[in-house]
Amino acid sequence: MTIKAALLGFGTVGQGVYEILEEKQQDLQHLLGRPVEVVGILVNDMNKSRPVRTETLVTDRFEQILEQQPDVIFEATIGQEPGYSYIKQALNERIHVVTANKVMFAAHGEDILEVADFHDVGIGYEATTAAGTPIIGTLSHLLQINNITKVEAILNGTSNYILTAMQQDGKSFSEALQEAKDKGYAEADPANDIEGHDAFYKLMILSQLLHKKQPVWSDVPLKGISQISPEDLTEAAQKGERIRHVAALELINGELSAQVKPVALPASHGLHSIDGVDNAITVSGDLVGSVTLRGPGAGKRTTASAMVEDFVRILQSAPIYQLH
Ligand code: NAP
Ligand code: HSE
Repeated sequence: MTIKAALLGFGTVGQGVYEILEEKQQDLQHLLGRPVEVVGILVNDMNKSRPVRTETLVTDRFEQILEQQPDVIFEATIGQEPGYSYIKQALNERIHVVTANKVMFAAHGEDILEVADFHDVGIGYEATTAAGTPIIGTLSHLLQINNITKVEAILNGTSNYILTAMQQDGKSFSEALQEAKDKGYAEADPANDIEGHDAFYKLMILSQLLHKKQPVWSDVPLKGISQISPEDLTEAAQKGERIRHVAALELINGELSAQVKPVALPASHGLHSIDGVDNAITVSGDLVGSVTLRGPGAGKRTTASAMVEDFVRILQSAPIYQLH
């Protein structure tokens, strides 16, 4: 008997998951006791060619995916819908779900977690925030008793890549953005990256996880890096500063305060030296003190890594009868 996996979306991230499931087949069998088989892939455009095994179902109909009776679904599509509806349907059919879709999860994560909990089905969303850097797992499992009232973070790999390329390598904004697109870092609509929305969604996911609530979205000051000029970067550099796109969240007297914007950081600041596509998240806990996690924040393999790690964790704790 195999563990049956289905992929929703076969772009940068979906293909990364497919490749890792193929590449790590033996390790997965060793960890999970059974081989993993991709039984279906959902796409939008049936005219694109897909580098997959000939026997693998590729379809644009979600019903056909469900007919394969997958044990787990990896969701890496774009935007709130249809991802949200498909995930709910899957959970209601007691299929485990792993998602990378932060736009959808920031808006519907609370509901999705409740549905998963109701059906006692696994849900993984590590890849939604900071890609392969394990901030969700750390906050969920390793910093539970700490009271974490403050988060300060670089959460958009594309923005950090552009700022680094402009400030340290003298590239133009458009040149650096094109490189981020070519490397698979940017969103399908890169305005989400450079106008700050992507970092905002990730901050809202962290807020939900830490505080079981989010600030009113329209109250959060939100600015991206699209208006940062080479002159701004030079001026900062002359003062020994670097401009970084910072997402911050604080709980003050029970009220959440958040902001997402470019900030000129002095060399003494912990996020000053975060370069390239890296993300970094500093959390302040009442017991542990200040902890920073840093790692690659976007890209095919690092994002797929987070999804496959979620999958392994979920399957390892799933009772055998939950598999179809
Ligand atoms: P992408 O390369 O643009 O791929 C998106 C995939 O979704 C494509 O295969 C597309 O189908 C499919 N799709 C879109 N709308 C669909 C629909 N209505 N029904 C079925 N399939 C649909 O995007 P990506 O970079 O892989 O990102 C996927 C998700 O992961 C996004 O939510 C993104 O925010 C998130 N994410 C990305 C990264 C990253 O580094 N790229 C990191 C973390 C999280 P076609 O192939 O037919 O066009
Ligand atoms: N476009 C996103 C980024 C992908 O650059 O951070 C990772 O979520």
